[in-house]
Amino acid sequence: MADNIGNKAAKQFSENTEFANNGSFHVKGAVHYDWGMKDRLSRIFNPASGNTVMLAFDHGYFMGPVSGLERLDLLIPKLANHADCLMGTRGAIRSCVPPTFNKSIALRASSGSSVLQDDLSHESMVVDIEDAIKMNASAIAIQTFIGADGQKETIEELNRAVNLGSKFSIPVMGVVAVGKEMERTTQFFLLATRMLAEFGVQMVKTYYCDDFGKVAAACPVPLVVAGGKKISEKDALSLAYHSIQGGAAGVDMGRNIFQSEDPEAMIQAVAKVVHEGYSDQEAYEFFLQLTKDNTQ
Ligand code: R5P
Repeated sequence: MADNIGNKAAKQFSENTEFANNGSFHVKGAVHYDWGMKDRLSRIFNPASGNTVMLAFDHGYFMGPVSGLERLDLLIPKLANHADCLMGTRGAIRSCVPPTFNKSIALRASSGSSVLQDDLSHESMVVDIEDAIKMNASAIAIQTFIGADGQKETIEELNRAVNLGSKFSIPVMGVVAVGKEMERTTQFFLLATRMLAEFGVQMVKTYYCDDFGKVAAACPVPLVVAGGKKISEKDALSLAYHSIQGGAAGVDMGRNIFQSEDPEAMIQAVAKVVHEGYSDQEAYEFFLQLTKDNTQ
């Protein structure tokens, strides 16, 4: 107990100053969440920019060791410092990401299929919420296959995750799946992102599309945009730029970072777009400069 003899009397009450912590919150749709949820969201979405650079390296959970992710133990330490959030499986994170990095984690918590199958749309929540809590996950990511064979089960699993997330203040990231046979139209993304938000997720991972601004406007929680298959660095930075301009709150980018000719330069260039308002051209010039510096 603190010593209470001879203490200075309290007098700085600032009665005429409004309570300073009554205002808004930097994450879309989150103003009425509780403290734990907001704390976790603030670890993912940078309070200064409101946005996130999420580094996705969960591909192995259904694809095995894709190009660039052969040695997570060597790759992730080079990139982690430039990301706000690491998206991976519990196996990859426990074995290859030192906890001393202290980065927010978006834990891939659904699975159920592999590239050896034709139909990848059957996934369920496979990580117990207790294990997500043990890993200090800032969010769990659950994939949902709207319009595909596995629609009903994946919607049920997503809702189960939201129920558990609400119980323990763990945000859920709803992942919009796009499959071989599935549409990638504006109409599809309007439907899928909105459905996931209505189910109660705290953020949605989706893809860029035409009229992306409408998709972002109609979704009451933040959208993070996946990079998709490897394209040129210039095009990937344009994708990031147009996503942010269209109202995304960040990217969840994998292959266009770890398969880049210079992954460290690429993630830093993406961060310039996401957090510092760089245009795609400025970010590309920044990337070229860093690449040049790294080879000298
Ligand atoms: C798929 O395996 C995951 O959902 C990825 O995390 C997501 O697609 C982002 O990675 P990429 O930018 O490589 O598409």
